[in-house]
Amino acid sequence: METVVSGIRPTGNLHLGNYFGAMKNFIKMQNENNCFFFIADYHSLTTHPTPGDLHGSVKQVLAEYLACGLDPEKATIYLQSDVPEVIELYLLLTMNAYVGELERTTSFKDKVRKNPENVNAGLLTYPVLMAADILIHNAAKVPVGKDQEQNLEMARKFARRFNNMYKQEYFVEPQPFNFGENLIKIPGLDGTGKMGKSEGNGIFLIDDEKALKKKVMRAVTDSGPTEMNSEIAEPIQNLFTIMDVVSEKSTLDFFKEKYANCDIRYGDLKKQIAEDINLFISPIREKINDIKSNDEYLRKVALMGAEKARESASKTIKEVRKIIGFRPF
Ligand code: TYM
Repeated sequence: METVVSGIRPTGNLHLGNYFGAMKNFIKMQNENNCFFFIADYHSLTTHPTPGDLHGSVKQVLAEYLACGLDPEKATIYLQSDVPEVIELYLLLTMNAYVGELERTTSFKDKVRKNPENVNAGLLTYPVLMAADILIHNAAKVPVGKDQEQNLEMARKFARRFNNMYKQEYFVEPQPFNFGENLIKIPGLDGTGKMGKSEGNGIFLIDDEKALKKKVMRAVTDSGPTEMNSEIAEPIQNLFTIMDVVSEKSTLDFFKEKYANCDIRYGDLKKQIAEDINLFISPIREKINDIKSNDEYLRKVALMGAEKARESASKTIKEVRKIIGFRPF
């Protein structure tokens, strides 16, 4: 039985990228592993949510997790901010995380470029907090999308450094994980890049049929293939990538063949994708609304998760403190 950890920031509704990049794998793993899935509410503070927004987003994301099939009887589902041991480990790890290496991470450089007026220290040490989330349970596997690859590389580096410094094989080096082997990136439908909350191109699990159809029908395309078996242009490949996760294989093959033969109609392709997304999300969407209105259940899940997560985290912290050299008088 392996220990598995993953988390999502509560900065908006879950979208198809979150589901297929992280949740889907985690849900499969919860049956056979020691699984922890949390809401990364501390991480979300880098963008300064208001107090009112913070709680509402956490509640929404928790309801969405449960509606997707995360099972509180099988996995430990908790809020990052309910486990103070994470913050202690974060502090301890910052002591041998170097400013230069943190400044060089792609996501930090990206954020500095996009928001030069809010380059806070939380952004700089973001990968250290993320490593603490994972190492606090000594996880071996972390189901995430492709965009988290570098953060995972940092987590392994901090684990290794700790082990070398104290000459103990204490932390396992955590590996990113996807059942399909390669980490995936779900694209946006605006031509290039990934689907994301801050990219404004998300197809959300709560989108109703009309809203999602509108988004899909607006997807960027081109003027169509003119040569048989030509290479698939990026915006069209993006549509196929989405189709690959939501549709039957025979449907994808059918449209790919039409592309290769130059008789594809993008309108038909989009209509099919919108239908298949709707088929996939409508049962989830209904459950989200039911669960969200059940405050008592959400409270029970969060309390139970916090207790289980703290049990595991306090064991790690106790051992780490001892390794570092803290001793009671
Ligand atoms: P976040 O909240 O941005 O995204 C949550 C998860 O969804 C995946 N994801 C995607 N996968 C494929 N295609 C996409 N377009 C796409 N968009 C998002 C992300 O890879 C991620 O797995 N730093 C993390 C949260 C975090 C965490 C952790 C994750 C904090 N501590 C410890 C794992 C372990 C984040 O911001 O994810």
